[in-house]
Amino acid sequence: MTDTFEKAVAAAGFVARRTVLRPKIAIVLGSGLGAFAEQLEGSAAIGFAEIPHFPQSTVPGHSGKLVIGLVSGVPVAVMQGRVHAYEGYSSEEVTFPVRVLGRMGVKTLVLTNAAGGINEGLKQGQLVLISDHINFSGRNPVSGPNDERFGPRFFDMSEAYSARLRELAHEAARAMEFRLDEGVYLSVLGPSFETPAEIRAFRALGADLVGMSTVQETIVARHMGIEVLGISCVTNLAAGIQKEPLSHEEVMETGRAAETQLAGLLRSVVERLA
Ligand code: HPA
Repeated sequence: MTDTFEKAVAAAGFVARRTVLRPKIAIVLGSGLGAFAEQLEGSAAIGFAEIPHFPQSTVPGHSGKLVIGLVSGVPVAVMQGRVHAYEGYSSEEVTFPVRVLGRMGVKTLVLTNAAGGINEGLKQGQLVLISDHINFSGRNPVSGPNDERFGPRFFDMSEAYSARLRELAHEAARAMEFRLDEGVYLSVLGPSFETPAEIRAFRALGADLVGMSTVQETIVARHMGIEVLGISCVTNLAAGIQKEPLSHEEVMETGRAAETQLAGLLRSVVERLA
């Protein structure tokens, strides 16, 4: 995709004409985690297919809508669903929505996902804050010519997931009286789940969680100077840990069971950000 900047400007302009709200906070909802979008008041829902140049999700469970509305009176942009590299999209396409959110004026991005738990202390269904990531996807969305209008050629990733936002999320979880661990998220391309040997290797590398999204979006957000909070739902224990084979159905089911808690946490984070 060339002229990404012009395309992002066009898409952001299209969205701006559909609502008077100008959100500074955006939230991406991962597999089975879409419920929060239903809580928005006065919302405009725009199908990904309507937005110029937007990629369209092909995965069941990712309905593919951008919903803009109010949460506790605060304007937020919510992506219900995302596209993944394993669907055949380039990392530029995968991260295009984040470029658009940035052009819309978003300064804080909350990325949620379904992940496999590698750290044996993690329990199925729990939420985990992403403290850092390991990009094991073999791709980087900012490789190739750099467009300075988005951000600089080289940029720091030493605090990719904002310590300030993590502290805010911890406060929210304490108020809701649930445990919120932190962990390192390792991204793979997918769509095959990992082998037990890969999971042992990833554990040795320092990963607590494994998934097929988020990292590309985080890189692009940091390129644009957007602050990132990452939240994983441990939808399953990683390959070789749990006895049953891994399945997309299990990921979706566990995601649905955790949706309410995640929605509460997101609301509380938005209130604390305002
Ligand atoms: N591996 C990779 N991605 C995932 C997993 C997993 O175990 N669970 C949910 N997304």
